[in-house]
Amino acid sequence: MPSLLTGKGSVEYNESMNITDKFIKNNNLAKEEFVELIRLAEADAEVRRSLTEEAVKLRRKYYGIDVYTRGLIEFTNYCRNDCYYCGIRRSNRNAERYRLTKEEILECCRNGYGLGFRTFVLQGGEDPYFTDERMADIVRAIRDGFPECAITLSVGEHSKDTYRLWKEAGADRYLLRHETADEALYGSLHPKEMDFARRRQCLYDLKELGYQTGAGFMVGSPGQKLEDLAEDLVFLKELNPNMAGIGPFIPHHDTRYAGEPAGSVERTVLLLSIIRILLPKVLLPATTALGTMDPLGREKGLAAGANVVMPNLSPLKNRRQYELYDNKICTGEEAAECRMCLAGRVESAGYRLVIDRGDSKL
Ligand code: 5AD
Ligand code: FES
Repeated sequence: MPSLLTGKGSVEYNESMNITDKFIKNNNLAKEEFVELIRLAEADAEVRRSLTEEAVKLRRKYYGIDVYTRGLIEFTNYCRNDCYYCGIRRSNRNAERYRLTKEEILECCRNGYGLGFRTFVLQGGEDPYFTDERMADIVRAIRDGFPECAITLSVGEHSKDTYRLWKEAGADRYLLRHETADEALYGSLHPKEMDFARRRQCLYDLKELGYQTGAGFMVGSPGQKLEDLAEDLVFLKELNPNMAGIGPFIPHHDTRYAGEPAGSVERTVLLLSIIRILLPKVLLPATTALGTMDPLGREKGLAAGANVVMPNLSPLKNRRQYELYDNKICTGEEAAECRMCLAGRVESAGYRLVIDRGDSKL
């Protein structure tokens, strides 16, 4: 514990406050300074308190007590990719594969609309069955049926022309986590054919096409160092995304990382506060992975500066099959139950779950 009573302690104290103050003042730091900031915050509750306080202040300034909600529709768990950490990667022979039909997807939207969702997130593996045209057709059908709702796609890496086609079909937003901004770590978590530069290019293409774009990363992925997280923060500042999805890494039993420790809830929550300060208006979800690691994880995320929750709208019969990691929560609840549960959690934490598209304020 730094102490004001000893010479050494007071130097430490000043250093930690200096870098924290600098960050709060400039909403930015250099990579080495981010490393230092995380290190200091993890050692000093006072630094953590300053960061949380600032993050909450900024969230309140731009969003008041409103928390946005997105209805997540996990419409396929087929995937041509083979990310080593992911439970639905193609080489996992034990994954029970499923795809929703267009009609099932629309049924999820109707159900969600009735429950107050005004954003639908279509998330899936990179499934070749959903060709560019099939996806465009689904997007058009949702666009026609739910004109005042936002449509978010989260279906991986595609060409700029494909992204353009889907934008023209009516998609508004796109989520593509960069996973890690460090090339060596990216290389160790993914097979060779998955290219670090291409993933980042996709994010720039999406932004250029006018999508509200979300990037993000896992906290505590195997081999991750503080320097890697600092690089993630530098990249987020440079990209300036509309949304940032971060959650703890959680091992999946059918992957090479089955025995690895999960990412820490405390570190994830700290990074949520740091990201709120880094990008004050960013849309920041309290993720399902955070809720999986801690029964109060999502509440902790909100208290750290998050302002979005993403309950599941997928049909109950398929919930368990979209298993990116072990022990995923909300696989036994109907959409209505998930929505109610989250509304209760959000409200008991002092916020209000609103019926709104929840567009980016960037
Ligand atoms: N633990 C936590 N998050 C994971 N994801 C994939 N596998 C895991 C895991 N084992 C995240 C990735 C991906 C998002 C859809 O889910 O960051 O982008
Ligand atoms: Fe599909 Fe990871 S295996 S995105």
